[in-house]
Amino acid sequence: MKILGTPREPSPVPDVTRRRVLTAGGITLIAAFAGCRSSTAVSVPGGGVAASPRAAAAAGRVSQAARVAEIEKMRKPVFVPEGVGFDPVAFSLADTLFWTDIMMEHAQFFVMLMPGDELAPQRAEAERFKATFAQQFDRARTAQIDQSNYVTLNRQTVELVKPYAEWKHRMGEAQAKGKIRSLVWHDFFEHTALEAERFTRRLDQFSGGRAELDRAETIDFWAKIMEDHSEFIAHLLDPQEKTLIAASRKSADLFAKLRGDDSKVKALAEGQAIVAFKTTATKGIEEGKIKSIIHPALADHVRREAVKFVDELKRL
Ligand SMILES: [Fe+2]
Ligand SMILES: [Fe+2]
Repeated sequence: MKILGTPREPSPVPDVTRRRVLTAGGITLIAAFAGCRSSTAVSVPGGGVAASPRAAAAAGRVSQAARVAEIEKMRKPVFVPEGVGFDPVAFSLADTLFWTDIMMEHAQFFVMLMPGDELAPQRAEAERFKATFAQQFDRARTAQIDQSNYVTLNRQTVELVKPYAEWKHRMGEAQAKGKIRSLVWHDFFEHTALEAERFTRRLDQFSGGRAELDRAETIDFWAKIMEDHSEFIAHLLDPQEKTLIAASRKSADLFAKLRGDDSKVKALAEGQAIVAFKTTATKGIEEGKIKSIIHPALADHVRREAVKFVDELKRL
């Protein structure tokens, strides 16, 4: 079975009007981003695991396949199942590619945020997780995954993710109790553990032959993730970026309210608005037009998760 189709051209956030951006971020958002939007030549570097020579060569070998699509590429693309069905094989591959790279990046952020000799042991553990998930991404990217072997891949991935989720909880607790003094919030450890656990639940479901999405679970999970992102962004912006901080806080409130509301229409509108917000923010951070301590890789990370959220919503 062939795996990857020709990557689609990145599209400039479809279905989102400026008005929706306003609704998501508050009335100040357009004014705050006016400088970024006036720039027509945004340069976004390629790179990352997906663009590595090895991965590119592998993608070339399997390029006729049409199971997994790459959408909304900025620094990296978002992997989604090709088509509109609920094929557990396509979902397994798309989610493995998407989430193993996300897991690798979590470790990359932990490494960045665990400085000094004092945190050398924890940093080394994070480095090992980073290598593990980069390797698993490459394995999924280069293997011929089909009906006969996707369950094996899923089980192998689950066994890698479980100890990672446990480690994140352990680190989160250590941070909360002052046993380690990293620059990773307890909340960030817990957030990334939540993503790891949802990933394993979905893989187990695929292995059982089902890929359908549950509306209430999908909206609740992603609304919580989007709420957290908005809180993180508000805390990582330069204190002088007052309008953007206020917009981020407002966005967090909107997603908090979305939890427990299973309206697909409402979730889709808010989801598309947050994709637009994060896309603009990623460009602004890349180009030095927004002052923050948000690494461009983190900006793109939360953008890709928002794109994945919208993709799942559209399939409900
Ligand atoms: Fe994440
Ligand atoms: Fe996240």
